Amino acid sequence: NLRPYTHILVARPEPNVALITLNRPKALNALSSPLFVELNQAFLEVDADDSVGAIVLTGSEKAFAAGADIKEMQSKEYSDVFKTRFLEDWTLLSRTRKPIIAAVSGYALGGGCELALMCDIILASPTAKFGQPEINLGVIPGGGGSQRLANIIGKSRTMEMVLTGRNVTAQEAEKWGMVSKVVGEGEGQVVKEAIDMAKVIASKSQIAVQAAKEVVNAAYELNLAEGLRFERRIFHGLFATKDQKEGMAAFAEKRKPEFTNS
Ligand code: HXC
Repeated sequence: NLRPYTHILVARPEPNVALITLNRPKALNALSSPLFVELNQAFLEVDADDSVGAIVLTGSEKAFAAGADIKEMQSKEYSDVFKTRFLEDWTLLSRTRKPIIAAVSGYALGGGCELALMCDIILASPTAKFGQPEINLGVIPGGGGSQRLANIIGKSRTMEMVLTGRNVTAQEAEKWGMVSKVVGEGEGQVVKEAIDMAKVIASKSQIAVQAAKEVVNAAYELNLAEGLRFERRIFHGLFATKDQKEGMAAFAEKRKPEFTNS
């Protein structure tokens, strides 16, 4: 048990919403290995907690996260990173079943940008800056950036970001489809809007929500024919749930559904 956490904060701003805050302010939330161990444990914990319907992940006003910890990586040799499977544990996070909303203010660079891209929805404050500056350090993205960006914003823009290391603004990221919305100005605004959105998601049938997340993600892993078949099968499966009966009965009876997540 790693609690109390040292590098992150875990809170419950709403009864059914978990808020995980990266908390290494002096290092602009650089994603050190100890931080990632805690982050993985926190995600496992909230994913297993039936009372949580959606998760918000955020950093500080100045930095969502300025990347993997450069000082930790600096002296590593190939044999170290190979043998310890360096960064392989980052993929654990993408196994979280519950939706994760990234609320990004300030720098989301390198591993920080990749962490945001592992989330399901990104909301950005006008101060957000996204970038893959690894090229300036003599390396390349290692947390999925090259693959996820190429899927989302296309080849030319991904090449530009990865080869020049240039940061893109919140507005560009929105235009390119990396973020779903740039919220209004103001401290805490992006976290507030993310919590509001998480609350909406958490009010639905959790079985349907998690099924929906799984099938959307399949669009990035399967070809179209496989993806369509997978979606239809999961859709069929939901007819075995009480929430499907309740949702459709409530519509017919012109009342609000009361989902029981069963
Ligand atoms: C370790 C970091 C860090 C990082 C910032 N710090 N980013 N430490 N790893 N990624 C530390 C600084 O060393 C400094 O510590 C403190 O945080 C404040 O940072 P400053 O540079 O003084 O702040 P500022 O001048 O405002 O500049 C902000 C910045 C800059 C532009 C974000 O910090 C920066 O360029 N950071 C590195 C960004 C980067 O290259 N990211 C990619 C990392 S590689 P002290 O002790 O001096 O106060 C990567 C690989 C991913 O992510 C691969 C797989 C995941």
